[in-house]
Amino acid sequence: MNRLAGKSALITGAARGIGLGFAKAFAAEGATVAIGDINVDAARAAAEDIGGTAYPVALDVADQASIDAAIVTVVAQAGKIDILINNAALFDAAETVDITRESFERLYAVNVAGTLFTMQAAARQMIAQGHGGKIINMASQAGRRGESLVLVYCSTKAAVISMTQSAGLNLIKHDINVNAIAPGVVDGEHWVHVDAMFAKLEGKAPGQKKAEVEAGVPAGRFAVPEDLTGMAVFLASSDSDYIVSQTYNVDGGQWMS
Ligand SMILES: NC(=O)c1ccc[n+]([C@@H]2O[C@H](COP(=O)([O-])OP(=O)(O)OC[C@H]3O[C@@H](n4cnc5c(N)ncnc54)[C@H](O)[C@@H]3O)[C@@H](O)[C@H]2O)c1
Repeated sequence: MNRLAGKSALITGAARGIGLGFAKAFAAEGATVAIGDINVDAARAAAEDIGGTAYPVALDVADQASIDAAIVTVVAQAGKIDILINNAALFDAAETVDITRESFERLYAVNVAGTLFTMQAAARQMIAQGHGGKIINMASQAGRRGESLVLVYCSTKAAVISMTQSAGLNLIKHDINVNAIAPGVVDGEHWVHVDAMFAKLEGKAPGQKKAEVEAGVPAGRFAVPEDLTGMAVFLASSDSDYIVSQTYNVDGGQWMS
């Protein structure tokens, strides 16, 4: 407990799912947590649920003005920003021949440009503050290898791993550690959506894809957000000061690298 006492964190896409799990864990560790989300009502409800110093921030990571405004809000509210988790992302699936430009552009705007420019805005503020910082990007096992129906999403997560490497090498001179977490499959609303998409694309019954995927996880089950919080707290704490540009698999044994 209190490993993040006195720290100010912004977590994007934190109104539900993995990001909400991070927000709860960071608040329990003593951080002041900004719940940044495009779904402002859900962000407000999440902040009220967490209580204490948690607060909602309206944020669309695909919009530069919204990113800049969110950083201003965090600094106004908490006096500084020490930790950013780039967690907001979109998923889509399609046959390669059916991928639309609209889907490609939307996923790249949120998952790639959103991650890059939120990271940039937070890093500029951290450099101005002069005390370093921690940036954690959410990658995925999908970024480690392609999947037949998931070309666009997989490629965005490969980009997150690559951006983490370059930004980490570039920003460590400012004592800003940039690292990433690559989960496998994590239960939540996201997977309800994914299962429904695969049911349509592969002609499966509802729940069938999820059960098949779960059967292939060496740990024998989907993760829950709490399975990822230990790694996130570690990467946000001073224990990670000598860790630069890494992507950690937290996936029940699905990928080794
Ligand atoms: N769930 C999994 O199995 C899994 C596996 C590997 C990686 N991941 C990654 O973990 C992260 C969180 O996943 P999740 O399952 O909790 O997702 P989720 O879909 O449950 O939640 C995503 C959150 O991001 C918000 N969001 C969407 N677009 C946004 C935007 N433009 N600006 C700000 N917020 C926005 C949504 O409102 C939502 O609250 C994502 O980066 C995802 O790619 C998830």
